This record gives sequence, C-alpha cells and structure tokens, in this order.
Amino acid sequence: MNSPRTILITGARGQLARALAIAAPPQIEIMTLERTELDICDAAAVRAALETHRPDFVFNGAAYNLVDIAEADGARAALEINALGPANLAAACRDAGARLVHFSTDFVFDGTKTTPYDENDKPHPLGVYAASKLCGENVVLAASPRHLVIRVCRLFGPVEAQTQKPGGNFPLLMLKLGRERGKVRVVDDQIGSPSYTPDLARGVWQLLERADGGAFHLSNAGEVSFADYAAEIFQIAGVECEVERVSSADYGAPAARPLYSTLSNAKAHSLGVTPLREWREALREFLGSHA
Ligand SMILES: NC(=O)c1ccc[n+]([C@@H]2O[C@H](COP(=O)([O-])OP(=O)(O)OC[C@H]3O[C@@H](n4cnc5c(N)ncnc54)[C@H](OP(=O)(O)O)[C@@H]3O)[C@@H](O)[C@H]2O)c1
Repeated sequence: MNSPRTILITGARGQLARALAIAAPPQIEIMTLERTELDICDAAAVRAALETHRPDFVFNGAAYNLVDIAEADGARAALEINALGPANLAAACRDAGARLVHFSTDFVFDGTKTTPYDENDKPHPLGVYAASKLCGENVVLAASPRHLVIRVCRLFGPVEAQTQKPGGNFPLLMLKLGRERGKVRVVDDQIGSPSYTPDLARGVWQLLERADGGAFHLSNAGEVSFADYAAEIFQIAGVECEVERVSSADYGAPAARPLYSTLSNAKAHSLGVTPLREWREALREFLGSHA
C-alpha cells in the first residue's frame, strides 16, 4: 500500500494519541487536534476539519474511558464519544478519500477464554463502556473496508497533567496510592497485558504500512493479574506498599470486566509487525522517570 504523507490525530491530548505523534516517522506531516479544537461528536466540524487538513489518514485518539461511570451517569457520553464520534469520522474519512485508524479495547471480550483472543473471536461486551467501544468498531469497519480498528489494552505511558482519568493510568495511580497509603486493594483475578504507549505507537506505524484494513490486536508481550502488576510496580519503583489481593466479586466495581483478556498479536506479526517487548521491560523503562 502507499505510504501516508499527512496524518490528522483527534483527541490529541490522550496518552496514546501523544505517543502516536511522537513516534511518527520524520517524513510524515502530523496535524493534531485536541478536543477543544475538534469535537468528534460534531459531524459538521469533523467534515470541515477533513476539508481543511486533507489528511491521508486520521488516527482517532479520542475516547470515553471512564469504565465504571459509563454504567450510569456516563452512558450517554460513552455512546456519543465511543460510537457516534467514530461513525462521524468513519463516514467523513471515507467520503474524503482518507483512511481512519480507530482504537478499541480488549474489553469487547467477555473473558471466558483461557488462551489469547484473536481477531476472529466473537466479542461479547460485559458493560456499557465495552458495548460502546464495540459499537464504534462496527460503525468504523462498516463504513469502509480500508479503515483499521486496532484493539489495545491496559495502556500506560506519559500522560497530560490534566487528564480525565483518575491517576492517569494504572502504574501512576498505584505509585500515588502506594506512597500515600502504604496499602492498596487490587483484584487478582483479571489477567491481561499491560501495554506501553510508545511501544504500541511504533507497532501502529508499522501496521499502517502493511495492513489494507480490518481489525487487529496490538499489545506488549506477556500477561499478568492486576495484583501482580501492582506488586511489580512497587518493586521496580522501590515503594513499600502492601498489595491486598481481592477477587473482582469482592472488589465490587460497578462495571463487570473480563477475567481474561490477553490479545493475540499473531495477525499483526504475520504482516511483519515487530513483536512488542515483554510488558515488564517496558514498565521498567516507564518507571525509570517516575521512581
Ligand atoms: N487507557 C486504557 O487503558 C485503554 C485500554 C484499552 C483500550 N483503550 C483505548 O485506547 C484508545 C486511547 O486511549 P487513551 O488511554 O489514550 O485515552 P485518553 O488518554 O483518555 O484520551 C482520550 C482523549 O479523548 C479526548 N476526547 C474525549 N472526548 C472527545 C471528543 N468528543 N472529541 C475529541 N476528543 C475527545 C479527551 O480529551 P480531554 O483530554 O480534553 O478530556 C482525551 O484527550 C481509546 O480508544 C481507548 O478506548 C484504552
């Protein structure tokens, strides 16, 4: 396929969006639009932005990620930002001759498998956030077979100081709570692959050069429970903190989550995307600047 020359990134303050911009090959022109500059739920504004910037590709970094709040007060926002917004982008990109790269989540699966999920596994979302993300995937892929949906999971990496997510991401939240409290309660029965946004970004750029369209999984290698992940964070950062291990049922979060959601990257690898390193190694690099 042809190499892209110009890329527009929406939701540009997000942690994955920022990493995508930073990892861009030097010959590519990157245009970034934050939420205040382009609301993806505004269909006319989306079309106007494509008309103005005329990108080859749009990376949609915009999302509503408040998984528990989406179960009640946030349901409308989740559906608008995760489904309506991507539908606006997908149709506008198709009509402007651009390709959309949209991001989704391991949470589209119900976690009943015990081996990594591949792109042929049937989604079965357990909550409103997950259902809104699946809806977004479907509208993007229905708009054009040339659009890409890339499912990622458990993101960590540098974040904007003002982010919608409490703590920014799991490692930063654990470090904050660990230092303040010396003890944290963490679920020990949800297994998945923590993924470092700079590593994912490199994978996305490789995939862009190789994939004609469709759904793909990308994550760092390896898998771990949240409780073991927390323990690893404290060990690497040298923070004295007890990890109280609880089941998801005892923790009682408003949104149900898959107990197992490791993503198989085999499809991306088969196209020549370099396997992402093990999550622990990436975590060490990330925490080097936060320890
Ligand atoms: N974070 C995870 O662990 C995780 C796990 C699996 C999948 N994913 C998926 O990976 C992708 C990237 O996630 P992320 O963690 O990088 O997200 P993020 O840091 O929460 O960033 C999302 C960005 O979207 C912006 N935004 C929200 N509504 C918007 C709208 N209507 N128009 C334009 N921008 C809007 C937000 O703006 P403000 O900054 O102004 O609020 C924010 O900057 C998402 O598709 C997400 O669902 C994430």
